[in-house]
Amino acid sequence: MSLFKSATREVPEVKPVPCHVAIIMDGNGRWAKKRFLPRVAGHVKGVESVRDVVGACIKQGVEYLTLFAFSSENWRRPAEEVSLLMQLFVKALQQEVDKLNRNGVRLRVIGDLSRFEPKIQQLVADAEARTAENTRLHLTIAANYGGRWDMLQAANRLALEHPERVGQWTEDDLAPYLSCAFAPEPDLFIRTGGEQRISNFLLWQLAYSEFFFTDVLWPEFGETALQDAIHSYQHRERRFGRTSEQLTGAEGSQA
Ligand code: IPE
Ligand code: IPE
Ligand code: MG
Repeated sequence: MSLFKSATREVPEVKPVPCHVAIIMDGNGRWAKKRFLPRVAGHVKGVESVRDVVGACIKQGVEYLTLFAFSSENWRRPAEEVSLLMQLFVKALQQEVDKLNRNGVRLRVIGDLSRFEPKIQQLVADAEARTAENTRLHLTIAANYGGRWDMLQAANRLALEHPERVGQWTEDDLAPYLSCAFAPEPDLFIRTGGEQRISNFLLWQLAYSEFFFTDVLWPEFGETALQDAIHSYQHRERRFGRTSEQLTGAEGSQA
């Protein structure tokens, strides 16, 4: 059994501050292009936004922050850009973990790490181990992550471990094998950079998340932009299949 409730199995508790925020950090390349800079300059600047948003989440009381850093489809980019992104990932793992640790942040990386160089895999394992006791903010980086990959790896592991129940699996059987099983489902999903699509991010987990799309490019996203998103979230009516009247109590039951 997963530690957290599934929004399709049970109506979850809704708090004013989203417990879990998931972000597609998009628009680095366009930010750089506007300034006649190479795309990588946008990625470098984007790391600063990550720092700002981590700080802002701690301040706001967000408990889980999941950031899409590299999708399973991003390997299709020019080799030079992929290589620079990998170098940036290494640098961030080498330079940022101390501060994250001091600030009580627990770092995890989700995705198919087997495709990364052994050096990156080692840095990830070290960072996860070093921050494993922290509880102030659960920061998760999705790298070589794809929502379809996630569901498939979960189904494959479930099949290997419980072949006796094939044909009778339930949501509750599959959920613990998903790579975000340590977190509640995202309350708020944000995509920067103006596109309005999921791009194979957390397909299963976003079933009942509130979506917030902004034209702000990721390198320009920070505390104020996060506050705007949370403010919008606070004005949503999360019905989870029920009617508005049920929520406001006009028809009695909240269940
Ligand atoms: C997001 O910014 C970062 C990654 C996908 C690694 P982009 O690089 O996609 O920026 P745009 O969309 O080209 O502006
Ligand atoms: C999604 O951004 C992936 C990440 C932010 C890591 P992309 O820029 O790769 O998405 P598409 O290709 O525009 O859908
Ligand atoms: Mg993009």
